[in-house]
Amino acid sequence: TRKFAVFGNPIKHSKSPLIHAAFAEQFGHSLEYRAVRVELDGFERAVRGFFASGGSGLNVTVPFKTQASDLADIQSEHSRLAGAANFLVLDEQGRIAADNTDGLGLVRDMVVNQGWLLQGARILLLGAGGAARGVAGPLLQERPHSLFIANRTAHKAAQLAQEFGGLGDVRGGDISGIEERTFDIVINATSTGLSGETLSLAPALLNERSCCYDMVYGPEPTPFMRWAAQHAAWAVADGAGMLVEQAAESYFRWYGARPETAPVIRRVRDALG
Ligand code: ATR
Repeated sequence: TRKFAVFGNPIKHSKSPLIHAAFAEQFGHSLEYRAVRVELDGFERAVRGFFASGGSGLNVTVPFKTQASDLADIQSEHSRLAGAANFLVLDEQGRIAADNTDGLGLVRDMVVNQGWLLQGARILLLGAGGAARGVAGPLLQERPHSLFIANRTAHKAAQLAQEFGGLGDVRGGDISGIEERTFDIVINATSTGLSGETLSLAPALLNERSCCYDMVYGPEPTPFMRWAAQHAAWAVADGAGMLVEQAAESYFRWYGARPETAPVIRRVRDALG
C-alpha cells in the first residue's frame, strides 16, 4: 500500500481522500490517502517526517502552498511561475520535487468538461492572490487573445501582469476600472466565494457568449455565480471540477494512469449535500 496525504489547515472538509480513493478504485490500486491538519508553524517538519516514514506523495493546500514551493529541492515550471506548489514527491535521489497542478486542473475543467474555448478568448481573472497566481501561467499557455488581471488592490494585479507578461498579452488593474470592455471568460480567483462577500462588478463586462467560473465550490452557488446567472452569462461553473481535475493530475504523476473524472465529480457534488 502506497501512502499519500494532503496537508492543510484547516483540513476537516477536504474532499481529497474521497477523490483519491475513487481514483484508486478505478484501477484496483491499493492506496492510503489521509487528510492531515498541520500546525501553522510545523509544515516543513511535517513534510520531512512524512517522507522519512515512507510516504509516497503529498498534496498541499491552504495556507502552505508557498512554503511547499520554497522548501522543494526541484521545482517544475508551473510551481516556479506560481511561486506555489500543491504537489510534492520524492525523486529517486531522495530530493523533494514540487509541482503545481491547480492551473492544469482549471484549464482541463473549462476546456474538456465544460467545453469552453480558451484559445483566442478575452479572459478576465479576478483577484491577484495565491489562487490567481497559481492559474495565470496555464491559462496563458492556452493562447488566449488576452488576459486582464483585476484586483481590489490594483498594484498587486499590475505586478502579477508584469510577471506573466512574457507569456502573452497580459494587463492588470483595478477591479472597478474595467467597465469598458466585455470578456469571453471571467474567472473568480478572489477569496470572496469562501467568505460569501460580494464583488461589485459591472454587468457590461459580460456579453452573450461569456462563460463565468468560480474557483471555489460548495453546496450553493456563490454570489459571483449568482451575479453571472442574473446577467445572462452563457455558462456558469463552480470549482468542483477543478478540484477533481487537479487531483487527477496528481494521480497521473504518482501512478502514470489517468483516472476518469466525471463520475468522481458527481461523487464530490453528492458529498457536498
Ligand atoms: P488566495 O490564496 O485565496 O488567493 P489571498 O492570497 O489572500 O488568497 O488573495 C485573496 C484575493 O481575494 C486577493 O486578490 C484579494 O484582493 P486584495 O489583494 O485587494 O486583498 C481578493 N479579495 C478578498 N476579499 C475581497 C473583497 N471583499 N472584494 C474584492 N476582492 C477581495
